[in-house]
Amino acid sequence: MIPIAQPEIGEEEITAVTDVLRSGMLASGPKVKAFEDAFAGYCNTSYAIATSNGTNALHAGMLAAGIGPGDEVIIPAFTFFATASTVAMCGATPVFADVDPRTFTLDPAAVAEAITAKTKAVMGVHLFGQPFDLDALQEICSDNTLMLFEDAAQAHAAEYKGQRVGGFGTFGSFSFYPTKNMTTGEGGMITTDDPEIERRARLYTNHGQSEKYLHTLIGYNYRMTDIAAAIGLVQLEKLDAYTSRRIENARYYDTHIRASGITPPTVMPGARHVYHQYVIRLTEECPLLRDELIIHLKNQGIGSAIHYPIALPDQPVFAGTSYECPVSRSLAQSVLSLPVHPGVSQDDCERVCRLLNDLSG
Ligand SMILES: Cc1ncc(COP(=O)(O)O)c(C=O)c1O
Repeated sequence: MIPIAQPEIGEEEITAVTDVLRSGMLASGPKVKAFEDAFAGYCNTSYAIATSNGTNALHAGMLAAGIGPGDEVIIPAFTFFATASTVAMCGATPVFADVDPRTFTLDPAAVAEAITAKTKAVMGVHLFGQPFDLDALQEICSDNTLMLFEDAAQAHAAEYKGQRVGGFGTFGSFSFYPTKNMTTGEGGMITTDDPEIERRARLYTNHGQSEKYLHTLIGYNYRMTDIAAAIGLVQLEKLDAYTSRRIENARYYDTHIRASGITPPTVMPGARHVYHQYVIRLTEECPLLRDELIIHLKNQGIGSAIHYPIALPDQPVFAGTSYECPVSRSLAQSVLSLPVHPGVSQDDCERVCRLLNDLSG
């Protein structure tokens, strides 16, 4: 079976974890500090604050930026649930804007339309590893005095006009879940250039503790462990090689999938797409329905997945809100992710392409 996702764990990670276990320092210690420094260096940001997962990074980042009750944060209608839930966790309201049908990332025109007097920020998502339109969103945010946040959970090493994501907005947020482009098991990171955001994010991730047993606000325990950070340090060293493999696999698909009814992903000029997922769109010309294709692929030992089957405004928890997001709704019906991770070989890609191309006879 070619799985849709697979963490790449080698002897180096195993040794790094064993060393931490032997050291006796299992909680947040020197490895976390070293990982934060290395990750900030990698993203070219002044600070990085490690967290226990990407959801907590988004939550703490927004709290640090002052998001709270009465505020609205504009987010894409097509993304993973945590982008929306963390806005709600701050007591604020997620406002859904539609996405661009080619890139699947926030449509700047839809964002401009969604702005109200309560809007405090826009959270763009570098979905599937492709940076959103940072120039357009930065301009809208600066014209309307809004903050811009980056949900970079899926976009380690992605670049916009030669600059790594995570440093464009008030803060960036990453996830190190095992399916992500690099992992720590569970883990997350907040990146920022703003010393005040860094200070407040550290408070929110550590019980609001400004000194030992001195609590200046209600914070959380969102700390990363040294065990996780030790894995992260090794994975960060390997990230460039992993990313090259993902891009090579994507190029192979781009140039070899010729089946009718399948639209490959579009990469915007100036974007370095790092293919957390390689997401195709099925059109009416596709000889099989999406569910049939998933089964057909599975029967041939090829994993695939739907990211995401429901546009966020249509999730039961958001029932009662009404949003026009035709593109997001149509994507939810038509997208399909193919295996693109570093464990996928060129032979595997060839098999996937042959199977898809054979569909049209
Ligand atoms: C776009 C996006 N945001 C946030 C998250 C949350 O990250 P985590 O699973 O590490 O909590 C994810 C994880 O899948 C994600 O894909």
